[in-house]
Amino acid sequence: MEGVRGKLKMTKYMEAIGFTKHLPISQADSLVAFELPMPSPEAHDLLVQVTGISVNPVDVGVRQSGSAVLAQPKVIGWDAVGTVVKTGADVTLFQPGDRVFYAGSFKRPGSNSAYQLVDERIVGHAPQKLSDAQAAAIPLTALTAWEGLFEQLEIDPTAKKRNEQKTILIINGSGGVGSMATQLAHWAGLKVIASASRPETIQWVKAHGADQTVNHRHDLVQEVKKLGYSYVDYIFELNNLDAHWTEMARLIKPGGRIASITENRKLVDLKQLTKKRAKFAWEWMFSKSYFQTEDMQSQHDILEKVAHLLDSGQLVTTMTQTFSPINVANLKKAHAIVESNHEIGKVTLTN
Ligand SMILES: NC(=O)c1ccc[n+]([C@@H]2O[C@H](COP(=O)([O-])OP(=O)(O)OC[C@H]3O[C@@H](n4cnc5c(N)ncnc54)[C@H](OP(=O)(O)O)[C@@H]3O)[C@@H](O)[C@H]2O)c1
Repeated sequence: MEGVRGKLKMTKYMEAIGFTKHLPISQADSLVAFELPMPSPEAHDLLVQVTGISVNPVDVGVRQSGSAVLAQPKVIGWDAVGTVVKTGADVTLFQPGDRVFYAGSFKRPGSNSAYQLVDERIVGHAPQKLSDAQAAAIPLTALTAWEGLFEQLEIDPTAKKRNEQKTILIINGSGGVGSMATQLAHWAGLKVIASASRPETIQWVKAHGADQTVNHRHDLVQEVKKLGYSYVDYIFELNNLDAHWTEMARLIKPGGRIASITENRKLVDLKQLTKKRAKFAWEWMFSKSYFQTEDMQSQHDILEKVAHLLDSGQLVTTMTQTFSPINVANLKKAHAIVESNHEIGKVTLTN
C-alpha cells in the first residue's frame, strides 16, 4: 500500500509549504508542510521543478496580514530557480530541461512547493555561472531595480556618457533591492549615493557600486549637502516613503524624478514637487503579470539581460546567507532574517 502511495506521490501529489493562520514566525504553525495535487501546465505555462527559492519582505507581509483562518493552506514565495519539466501548448520561449529563474505572479501559488506553474513571459534562463543558491537571490529584486531605474525613473542604461553627469540617491542601498539597484545604477554610468546606517552596510554598498554613502538614520538633506550636493537628479526610495518624503522633495533637482517601491500609509503630498516640476512614479514588480499588460514579456527580456550581466561578471549575486534543504525549519529561519529589517543582500534556500 505504501509503495502504491509512494508512486502516486511522484505523479499526482507534490510537497509544499504554506500557512492557514497568520501567526508570528516563532509559532509552530506559522508555516506548515502539506501535499497538493501536481499542477498541469496550460497555454503559456511552464511546470517547473523548484530547486532554489528566496524570501522577500512581500512573503512576510502576506504571511502576517489577515486574521481569518484559511480553508486551504496558502503557498507563497516569489523567487525561484529550477528546471522546466512540462510546457503548455502555447509555450515558445522554453523547453523541458531548461534551467530557469523567475519571481512569479502575485495572483498564483508561490514557489514554496516542489513544482510550480509560471507564465513563460515572466521567466528567464537562469545564469549559467551561478549556483541555485546564488541565482535564487536575483529575480524579484532585479526586476524591481531594473523597472524602477530604467522604466519608472526613465534612465537610459545605454546613455552611459550622459549618465556620468547625473547623480542618483538610493535610499536603502544594502537591502535586497538596493544591492541590485546600486549595481545597476553604477553599471548605467550614474554617480551613485546609497544610504546605509551601519559599518557593515556602508562597506556592502561601496563594494556594490556606491560612490558615496549617506546615513538614513540622520537628516538626508544634511547628509547629501555634506557630500557637496544641493540636489540630486534621481531618487529611488526603497524603505519607507512616508518617513523620507519631505527629504526627497527637498533634495530632488528641478525637473528631476523620484520613484518608490514602498507603500505609503499617509497621503503623499505631491504639492511639494509643484514648483520643481519634479515627477513621482511608483514601481510594483507584480504590475505586469497582475494586469496581464501588453508589455508583460518585457520581464522575460529583463531576466535574460540580467542573466547575461551576471554570467559576464558585470553584476554579482546578492546572496549573503543560504540554507538547505527547503523545509519548514529553514524557511522559518529565512522569514525571521527578512523580518529584522536589517538584512544585507538576500537569503536563499536550496534542495
Ligand atoms: N514595489 C515592489 O515591486 C517591491 C519589490 C521588492 C520590495 N519591495 C518593498 O521594498 C522594501 C525593501 O525591500 P528589500 O527586499 O530591499 O528590503 P530589505 O532587504 O529587508 O531591506 C533591509 C535594509 O533596510 C535598511 N533600512 C532599515 N531602515 C531603513 C530606513 N529607515 N531607511 C532606509 N533604509 C533602511 C537596512 O539598512 P541598515 O541596517 O543599514 O539600516 C537593511 O539593510 C520592502 O518594504 C519591500 O516590501 C517592493
